[in-house]
Amino acid sequence: MNGKYKALWLNEENYLEVIDQQKLPFEYVSKVLKTTDEVVEAIKDMTVRGAGVIGSVAAFGIYTACLEVKNYEELKQKASLIRKSRPTAVNLMWAVDSMMLRLKNSTNLADDAKKFAIELNDAEAKESQKIASYGADIIEDIMTKKNKKTINILTHCNAGWLAVIDEGTALAPIYEAQRRGIDVHVWVDETRPRNQGASLTAWELTQSKVKHTIIADNTGGHLMQIGDVDMVIVGADRVSANGDVANKIGTYLKALASYDNKVPFYVAIPESTFDFDIKDGMKDIPIELRSEDEVKYMRGVDADGVLREVLVTPKDSPAINYGFDVTPARLVTGLITNKGVCKADFEEIKQKFML
Ligand code: MRU
Repeated sequence: MNGKYKALWLNEENYLEVIDQQKLPFEYVSKVLKTTDEVVEAIKDMTVRGAGVIGSVAAFGIYTACLEVKNYEELKQKASLIRKSRPTAVNLMWAVDSMMLRLKNSTNLADDAKKFAIELNDAEAKESQKIASYGADIIEDIMTKKNKKTINILTHCNAGWLAVIDEGTALAPIYEAQRRGIDVHVWVDETRPRNQGASLTAWELTQSKVKHTIIADNTGGHLMQIGDVDMVIVGADRVSANGDVANKIGTYLKALASYDNKVPFYVAIPESTFDFDIKDGMKDIPIELRSEDEVKYMRGVDADGVLREVLVTPKDSPAINYGFDVTPARLVTGLITNKGVCKADFEEIKQKFML
């Protein structure tokens, strides 16, 4: 793909350019990241976000760093800054480590890094296509079994092409189902506090003309009780070897409601989202703690179309902002991966990925 993907690309001058996701859905603008510091800041401030895209940007971040250093030892320091920019999405650490391993004996760091980053990202884009196809098979199956015209799918946060190149994870099967002529409708959780569902998922689905409805985060359980959700598909930021799933805060509550209402709960992930070193995700997956301001303030455009932040709580009330939660494997119906669908279970994951 020559380094050109939907959410990020190498521009004509060979610098990394990304869609500024902080501005969506109000403005579609891109940002050029010319230095390692700019790459690190873009990941930290969520100009780019979503586990897969963070990894993709990190891989090109290593290439960017190579333009600034004289040798591999210097590169290691820059790599460590990128690696530490966010804690939960393991795709970030995986991308940095994969790049550094391949560059170890390089005699031409910048050229090799560019080539390796493109290879890594091309492989990620292919995995997204496979997830699309395996996931759409499940949607088709549910449609046949339930003999329904429209399939209602609930999703949380954003796991589309803004989050994973080149079509996403949770949304990839939905795009593929639409291509197959299946009538899909998506319940989009707003996903407080940063509203990635209401602003990013809804924007993506609008672009592709996929039917959708934005719901307040607390609505999903009620919709399940009245039979209006046929399945849930979410993405993930890290899945442990035993199948526990870290994803955007609130995912666990959706999994609980799904379990109680016998609604299938699927998690769509590429291989880079597995952390085989963690055997107990409930205990060992690190959970990001972000600024309380993300809970206390909300962003939006005012009547004059100006993007603003407004305080929605008493100024002095404290807030706490965990970015992610962990859904135990027992609540997950299946993992939709690039290698097919498997149970969220140590033996099945081992069979498919670790042997
Ligand atoms: O904090 P974010 O917006 O980076 O969180 C993103 C999510 O939680 C997504 O659901 C997750 O990355 C899965 S898509 C790769």
